Amino acid sequence: MARVLVTRRLPDGGTAPLVAAGHEIVQRADDVPFTHDELCAAVADVDALVCLLTDQIDAAVLDAGGDRLKVVANVAVGYNNIDVAAAAARGITVCNTPGVLDETTADVAFLLMLAAARLASEGERDLRTGVWDGWEVTEYLGVDVHGATLGIVGMGRIGKAVARRAAGFGMSVIHHSRTDTGLPGWTADLDALLATADFVSLHVPLTPDTTHLIDARRLALMKPTAVLVNTARGPVVDEAALADALHAGTIFAAGLDVFELEPIIDERLLTAPRAVLLPHIGSASVATRTRMATLACEGAVAVLAGERPPNLVVA
Ligand code: DGY
Repeated sequence: MARVLVTRRLPDGGTAPLVAAGHEIVQRADDVPFTHDELCAAVADVDALVCLLTDQIDAAVLDAGGDRLKVVANVAVGYNNIDVAAAAARGITVCNTPGVLDETTADVAFLLMLAAARLASEGERDLRTGVWDGWEVTEYLGVDVHGATLGIVGMGRIGKAVARRAAGFGMSVIHHSRTDTGLPGWTADLDALLATADFVSLHVPLTPDTTHLIDARRLALMKPTAVLVNTARGPVVDEAALADALHAGTIFAAGLDVFELEPIIDERLLTAPRAVLLPHIGSASVATRTRMATLACEGAVAVLAGERPPNLVVA
């Protein structure tokens, strides 16, 4: 039996694989996030760590785990919160949750496209605050999603799931990724995609190369009628530059589920016109979050049993 630190309460049934394998689960009763120091202390006498994307698993945490810590299992597909190189250097396996949140996240990308394009947040806010005083022929005029050109940046599993939805809306889909996908609509030229697309949806992992991938220069390439959607990671977009673009009206709208300094939101984004802002809920359905939790725990169980988990990031 191993000891497994689970940093937060997981959806019901999420720790079932740990229970079934007979491992001891160590968890805070109060479900308060660990500070960095608390996490270092807590990880000192466990064999496995099941953590969230809000836990920063840096070299200090990994060192605190010592020789005993064998695996870090992230309840997320993105793992930019984990120093993967430091884990590899210490022989600690890292796993994540690929493949189980694609459709749910793609649903939210589409929700943001539709809501931003059709000014849904603005309209609902006006209605709830009594500002709306009746139907007007020139009010709340958005842009059409159906028939438009969608530019997908990062054609992995989630990007492809967004493309499938776009087909139902009669959209033309183009996409950019570093290597040729072999799929119709691929372009090596991100700038050209930005200049062509009516909607741009971001689906790249956060790496040094993708930090501020969409910066002021690239925002300026987008059409004044274009809508930018980000369900990937906040720092992929230069938020200050995006706020400038929205305030200046150089793009039409933006739909964001992720932010550079979550949960702190840039004041100028909060006040920007035609911005739909969601609290990082891309994968937040009961079924998907439960499956993410069980998949992460299954990865930890596999490593503890000396096996290679299918959801391996690095070993
Ligand atoms: C992930 O898994 O990386 C998502 O951001 C969580 O929804």
